[in-house]
Amino acid sequence: MDNYVRIFDTTLRDGEQSPGATLDAQDKLEIARQLARLGVDVIEAGFPAASPGDFDAVARIAAEVGTPGGPTIAGLSRATPKDLQAAADAVGKAAKPRIHMFLATSDIHMEHKLHMTRAQVLQRTSEMIALARSLCPDVEFSPEDGSRTDPAFLHEVLAAAIEAGATTLNIPDTVGFSTPTEIAALVRDIIAKVPGADRCIISVHCHDDLGMATANTLAALEAGARQAEVTINGIGERAGNAALEEVVMALHTRQSKYNLRTGIDTTQLLRSSHLVAGRTGISVAPNKAVIGGNAFAHEAGIHQDGVLKHQATYEIMRPESVGLARSRMVLGKHSGRHAFRKRLEELGHENLSEETLQHAFRRFKQLADQKKTVTDADLETLVADEIYQPPECYILRGVHVSCGSPSIPTATVTVTTPDEPDLIGSATGTGPVDAVFSAVDRVVGMRVELEEFAVHAVSGGAMALGEVTVRIRTLDEARRRFSAHGADMDIVVASARAYIAALNKAAVAAGIRPAGTKTITEETSAAVTAEIASVT
Ligand code: KIV
Ligand code: ZN
Repeated sequence: MDNYVRIFDTTLRDGEQSPGATLDAQDKLEIARQLARLGVDVIEAGFPAASPGDFDAVARIAAEVGTPGGPTIAGLSRATPKDLQAAADAVGKAAKPRIHMFLATSDIHMEHKLHMTRAQVLQRTSEMIALARSLCPDVEFSPEDGSRTDPAFLHEVLAAAIEAGATTLNIPDTVGFSTPTEIAALVRDIIAKVPGADRCIISVHCHDDLGMATANTLAALEAGARQAEVTINGIGERAGNAALEEVVMALHTRQSKYNLRTGIDTTQLLRSSHLVAGRTGISVAPNKAVIGGNAFAHEAGIHQDGVLKHQATYEIMRPESVGLARSRMVLGKHSGRHAFRKRLEELGHENLSEETLQHAFRRFKQLADQKKTVTDADLETLVADEIYQPPECYILRGVHVSCGSPSIPTATVTVTTPDEPDLIGSATGTGPVDAVFSAVDRVVGMRVELEEFAVHAVSGGAMALGEVTVRIRTLDEARRRFSAHGADMDIVVASARAYIAALNKAAVAAGIRPAGTKTITEETSAAVTAEIASVT
C-alpha cells in the first residue's frame, strides 16, 4: 500500500452547508484557486443539481481551476440519473473530472428518509454507479451514514459499487458518531473483506459532532484509508468536518509515527484559512489548533522564557511551516512603504496589486498613528479587509455617532450609491451600532434583517484593531444570506464597513450595478469621523 494520502477538500460543498456560510460564485472561484495553490488533490466544488447557481460555480471551477496539472474537480450527486447528468456536465470541462455519488445505507436512513429496502438500495447503487461510470471515468461512492450501517450490508453495497465501476469508496461518519477505534476497525474490515477493495482508494469523511473528526480521520488513515475528506477551518454541516489543517499538520508533525505524506504546501495553510474565514464570514476561534490566532502565542512567562531559549521547548510546529512568518521587525509609524511591502511579502502577500497595496499602506499609517506597534495579525486583517471586499454598489464615505448614558444613540452616515454621490441618512437606535445600521438602511433602502453580529479584537489591549463579522438575510422571497467582515480601530466604523460589505454582496446578487468610483478604503478611512460621547 502506498503512503500517499489524497486530500479531498469539501470546503465548497460540505463547508458551504455550514449554518450561515454563503459563498457567491466569485468567492468560490477564489477559494478554489487558493485550494489549488495549497496543493489539494481533489476539490469538491459543489452540488450541481442543487441549483443553477451551484451548477455554474462548479462548471467555472472545472474550467478555470481543473486545468491539466491541477486538482481533480468533483461534483456531488444523489443516486438519480438527473443528478448524475448534472454533475457530469458541470465537471466535464476539468482535465480530471469526478462524480461523487451518495446513497444512504443505514437502516434508520433507508427506512425513514429514503423509504427503501436494502435490496432496493443495493440495486440502485449498482445501476446508478454504472450510469455514473458511463458519464465519467472517475466515480466516488459514499454510503451515507456508513458508520451506522450494518457492516455486513455495508460490505455488500460497497462490493456492488466496485463491481459497477466505483474507483473511490468513501466511508462517511455522517453524524459524527464514530470513535477512532471503531472507524479504524471499519476501514480495516472493508479492506480485508470487500471483494475488489484493493483496486479502490478507501476514503473517510468525518463530522465533528463529538469533537473527534480529526482523530477519527487519522485513525482511518492509519488503518489503510488513503483519502481524507476535510474542510478548511473544519467548517461544514452542524459541528463541521475534520479540519484540513489539523489532519495535514498531524501527518506532517508526527511523520515518524504515521509514515504518511500529502501533497499539501503547508505554508499556504494560514492564507487559506483567512480566505475561507473572510469569504464565509465564519471566524476562527483564537484557540483553534494550527491556524487560530493564539496557536503560536506564548503567554505564560515560563513558556516565553523556554521558547526564547529554544523554540522546540513549547512549539511542536514552526509557525513558518503553516505560513505564519515570525517577525523580527516591528512595524510602527516610522516604517516606510518599502518595509511595509517587505513585511507583507514575508506574510505571503507577494502579488498584491499596486492599488491594494496603496490603500493598505494608507490604512496602516492611520493605524500606526494611533497604535504604537502594528502586529502581523493587524496587517493580515487590514490586507484581508482590502482584498476580500465585494464590488461596491454602496460606498461608505463617513460615519458620525453620538451615544452615551443617558442619551439616545444617534448616527449619521454618508454613502455613495449607484445614483447619488453623497447621500446622508440619520437614525437612532438601541446602541451606536444599531443606530449606524438603521441609518445605512435608510440611505440604501434594501430590505434585510441582521442575523448575526460579532466583534473580535485582532490584537490585545484597548488599542486593538477590531474585526466585525455580520450576516444579513434579505427579506424578499429568496431570503438569501450574506456575510461580510470589516476592520477598523473603531468598532463602530468596523461595524459600518462590515454591514455595507454585506449589503454590497446582496446588491450584486440582486443585479444592482456598482457605483462609479472605487476608492472605498482610502476615502472611507480618511473621511470617517466616529465620535463616541460618554455622558454620565
Ligand atoms: O456527511 C456525509 O455523509 C456527506 C456525504 C454526502 C459524503 O457529506
Ligand atoms: Zn458530510
